[in-house]
Amino acid sequence: MTEIKAPRGVRDILPDESWKWAYVLNHAHAVAGDFGYAEVHLPIFEHTELFSRGIGETTDVVEKEMYTFTDRGDRSLTLRPEATASMVRSYIEHDMAEAGQPVKLWCAGPMFRYERPQKGRYRQFWQLDFEALGSSNPMVDVEIIELSLELFRRLGLTNLEVMVNSVGCPKCRPVYKGRLMAYFGAHLDTLCESCVSRYSRNPLRILDCKNPQCRAVTEDAPGIYDSLCEDCRTHFTSVTDGMTRLGATFHVDKRLVRGLDYYTKTAYEVLSGQLGAQNAVCGGGRYDNLSEAVGGPALPSVGFATGLDRIILVMEEQGCSFGKRPAPLVYMIAQTPAVRTEAQILTASLRRSGLAVEMDYLGRSVKAQFKAASTLGARFAAIIGESEMEKGTVSLKDLESGEQVEVLRHDLAGKIRKLCESN
Ligand code: HAM
Repeated sequence: MTEIKAPRGVRDILPDESWKWAYVLNHAHAVAGDFGYAEVHLPIFEHTELFSRGIGETTDVVEKEMYTFTDRGDRSLTLRPEATASMVRSYIEHDMAEAGQPVKLWCAGPMFRYERPQKGRYRQFWQLDFEALGSSNPMVDVEIIELSLELFRRLGLTNLEVMVNSVGCPKCRPVYKGRLMAYFGAHLDTLCESCVSRYSRNPLRILDCKNPQCRAVTEDAPGIYDSLCEDCRTHFTSVTDGMTRLGATFHVDKRLVRGLDYYTKTAYEVLSGQLGAQNAVCGGGRYDNLSEAVGGPALPSVGFATGLDRIILVMEEQGCSFGKRPAPLVYMIAQTPAVRTEAQILTASLRRSGLAVEMDYLGRSVKAQFKAASTLGARFAAIIGESEMEKGTVSLKDLESGEQVEVLRHDLAGKIRKLCESN
């Protein structure tokens, strides 16, 4: 029979990498706590309509990238391609308008998009998603951007570029669309096939095209700023002023439009040169009308999501620290087959006292057990042989200093703790 492999674009996160994920997730938890965002766990699949109405029928995500299936009850369901629409659905479903606004939530988990796999782009990938729901205050936009940057700071990421723009609102965006159509109308023969089709459906998306020829055309395309209504313009200035006050370095990028249709006013991305073509570590912005699009009340909100897979890639390439890889503190060594069961009892008792202990189950030689202890990075070897058995003792070797002492079995945990404290 042929061997079954993981589907294209999905991968196993194995122990060599998973501890790094835990490191980043721990930092996300800490930053979320410091900024007052509470964690939620949302479903992996939702009614397809949530995404088609929320994200927009003409987006690449909805048109080409969703994993949609019909369940046994004949419902159309979709594996979530992102978390924002689900956050809004959850807010509405649980009447969170009753709480103080904004309601600040975050979640971590896998998202699914049928994209062409390449470096930093997978069909199942993890996002850390932060949302502040129920406030139109531009200071909340600033908080969201600052939160993402603080997470990256704590992780030690450097050389990131922060790009900010406004994508206007339903009042002023049509004016801008008109100006864009007038401009691109004169360049249709230069644009790629996809952009020609975007021209009539959503000309803003042409600004986002990576095709070099289209990029050259977009270079001189009109920026949105002159088309913004008073409200959007004031909002944008408040956000950029707020970021400047916090000392953030950023660029205003008139071509930044984002790939999801729900954005209004603020749009931003954080880019890293280390990622190649898929250079966005993080993207987000304001989405004041998403709630209404999925049948909810007015709910001005802002948020961002950052790709966990991409954070780790950049951290690895930049040589950032992931802290210490988890290792057993103690490796229990049985000197002869006769003391193996005793070694397991001792191991259990040390673990019950809260120490990380590993032991051998292969009946390996003492030498091989010492080697395993050092490969795993254990600080101590606890050695039990027949003479220790008789005396009720254990020999404890500090594998860093080489010093060895013999201690009574019931003193073992205490002795290990004391040695740990002393250096
Ligand atoms: P997005 O820009 O589509 O925005 O995705 C956010 C981040 O998820 C990207 O910057 C990237 O780091 C990561 N990402 C996206 N697709 C992939 C992929 N195929 N493989 C690996 N990583 C990927 C959103 O999803 C919005 N929901 C963000 C948001 C939250 N806006 C407001 N609130």
